[in-house]
Amino acid sequence: MQRILIDTDPGVDDALALFLALKSPELRVEAITSVSGNVHVEQATQNVLTILGVLELDEVPIVAKGEAQPLVKPLVTAAHVHGEDGLGNISTLRNADGSPRYLPADTEISSTPGVALILEMARHYPDELVVVALGPLTNIAKAIRTDPVSMRRLRNIVVMGGAFEEYGNVTTTAEFNIFVDPHAAQDVFNFGVPVHIAPLDATNQVVLTGERLHAEIAGRRDSVSQFLKDSTVACMEFYRQHVWSRRSLQANIETDGIHIHDALPIGILTHPAYFESVDAYVQVETEGNLTNGMTIADLREEPQPQHPKARVCVKVEAETFLTHFFERIR
Ligand code: RIB
Ligand code: CA
Repeated sequence: MQRILIDTDPGVDDALALFLALKSPELRVEAITSVSGNVHVEQATQNVLTILGVLELDEVPIVAKGEAQPLVKPLVTAAHVHGEDGLGNISTLRNADGSPRYLPADTEISSTPGVALILEMARHYPDELVVVALGPLTNIAKAIRTDPVSMRRLRNIVVMGGAFEEYGNVTTTAEFNIFVDPHAAQDVFNFGVPVHIAPLDATNQVVLTGERLHAEIAGRRDSVSQFLKDSTVACMEFYRQHVWSRRSLQANIETDGIHIHDALPIGILTHPAYFESVDAYVQVETEGNLTNGMTIADLREEPQPQHPKARVCVKVEAETFLTHFFERIR
């Protein structure tokens, strides 16, 4: 069993990752910290509670609110992808009696700030705790800057972020999580604790099509299936208008569906055999204009021994992982 802390900016795909993590017996989710990214951290924190409310858990992880602003850059959000509330606008949905369809879990947000909770957990579980970062790396970097000695006791940091031999999804060169806070990402990649990166090179290989989603949840009445149905509508439409229309011009590929980016780091921890990774020395462009937030690594070369290496996931058995995902979350 692996003890993990999930740092997240829900985000529809963050929600799917949280469902998968909380339904994976290989993992114990000790805590969840929120961060500004897809939406502002105030909304992201409420979304964590809403997601936990969908699962009706016997034991709810500690939830703490993290940083509102990136280390240096002004905040950029992605409400145009994930909806104004970050979860596909499910907050507007009502039951027949007019009550909100989705209510937050019955738990308090910790009075401990997110960065302090990360440090508390790192000290409490030395050489055991794995941090799974599903949003901009602001909280992780601030924890490193605050108390590097405690953060060196982390076992591993698994990051959804970056793009190496793929175009970015915010600019031509940058993936969203790194673009929002490139300075934080540079801190994390240079720190020296083992880092395992799931970049767009891997996460773009998994497509949850509308057809597949319908096949998996049609007629099911469970709360997770209902959430998947309700929360993915806005995302599917964004992809239809802004992703597939552009990409399908390049190659004869999917023209429907969404990427479930954040679910892959969870799979890397529980089912590493589904994934292939290489060692690489990863750097981040923090000053560039056209390339700001770009992650740079030569995936072909042997890593330079003097620098901390990252593991970079370059391949996933997409169908196997997607089948596993649905088997687990229901
Ligand atoms: O680029 C995809 C990443 O940015 C995902 O984590 C998504 O939730 C957004 O945070
Ligand atoms: Ca995310």
